[in-house]
Amino acid sequence: MDAGWTSAIMDTAAAARAFVAAHPSAAAGYAAAAFCVVFTAASLGTFFVPWLLSFFCGVQDLKVKYGAEWAIVTGGTSGIGKAIARRLASQGLNVVIAAYDDKLMEESREAFPAEFPGCQFRFVPVDLSTADEQRYLTPLAAATSDIVVQVVFSNAGYIRTGLFDGSPLDVQLRNLRCNATSSAAVAHLFLRRMRRSGHKGCVVFTSSPANLTPCPLSAMYGATKSFLTELAVSVAPEVVEFGIDVAVLVSTATHGAAPCLLPPSPRAGPAAASPVPLRPLRLANARSTRPPLTRTSSTRPTLSGPCSSSSPRPRALTSSPSPPSASSAAASSWTRATTAP
Ligand SMILES: NC(=O)c1ccc[n+]([C@@H]2O[C@H](COP(=O)([O-])OP(=O)(O)OC[C@H]3O[C@@H](n4cnc5c(N)ncnc54)[C@H](OP(=O)(O)O)[C@@H]3O)[C@@H](O)[C@H]2O)c1
Repeated sequence: MDAGWTSAIMDTAAAARAFVAAHPSAAAGYAAAAFCVVFTAASLGTFFVPWLLSFFCGVQDLKVKYGAEWAIVTGGTSGIGKAIARRLASQGLNVVIAAYDDKLMEESREAFPAEFPGCQFRFVPVDLSTADEQRYLTPLAAATSDIVVQVVFSNAGYIRTGLFDGSPLDVQLRNLRCNATSSAAVAHLFLRRMRRSGHKGCVVFTSSPANLTPCPLSAMYGATKSFLTELAVSVAPEVVEFGIDVAVLVSTATHGAAPCLLPPSPRAGPAAASPVPLRPLRLANARSTRPPLTRTSSTRPTLSGPCSSSSPRPRALTSSPSPPSASSAAASSWTRATTAP
């Protein structure tokens, strides 16, 4: 920067300081107005401009773009992942869906082939929050050993609300592993395959606006989404020359996923925390209390782990007569989180 620019900036800063000193309330008003203008411009720029672009340019056909036959979507049995899987199938891609082996998976096994009879689907039950990544990578690799997966949506994840130190470490680490570690591991598996076989393709991570802001009461969630964003923007230039695109999907809140309407202060104690009428907290939040899946001698997944270790017998995952509602489960999640020491 040359001396002329430097002195111009210094003069402007000095004039601004003098103005603030002379008219403090007017300066505060101007600052607030400037913030509103910048905030509005940023909102318009990051939402309406992309929306307009996609409106006029149309949605990319990933099957055509990459000459792909197969895609994979983690967490493709519900929410955003399910919508992605449906969109990919509507483009004629065959889809591998990896998610929990639960009722949603069972429903998806029937619903997807019925809706898209021309596409093939493979369903891979996995627990992506397990500490041993081979427990999901091995089945994923086996289920895709005879196909070329060129479109990868690493999407599974959930938010867990409550104080970071308000729940056992394992609960926090499961959130970390599902949202971040497994995403990196799945991306690594398919990126290496694409590189080895020389195929074009894409890897898309589902991040969140939470990656940009401090996230008190969902600290691990925000941290994992920052991780995903950083990973994606760093890997992207490494592989772009091979025809592989790496992107982050920064989804805003979807219907029914309103942010957790701040509950009473967690430091207020158990009385304030118990049955909290938390409205649309997501089922994913309830899932955060889901203990690890383990296999017993039966082929059904069962629940065991820290949260149920006091129970003499593991509870069958699918035998519950009526699964807890999102709100009650969320409330219990919150209660658990806030009543911890
Ligand atoms: N919804 C929003 O407003 C929003 C906003 C920003 C970002 N996001 C992100 O978008 C992604 C999808 O969110 P969503 O709202 O669509 O959630 P969702 O409806 O709860 O779907 C999450 C999917 O991930 C799977 N999943 C969760 N934990 C898993 C685990 N440990 N192992 C295997 N599969 C697991 C679920 O499988 P089952 O259902 O079979 O258990 C489900 O298919 C997440 O990464 C989330 O952080 C969501």
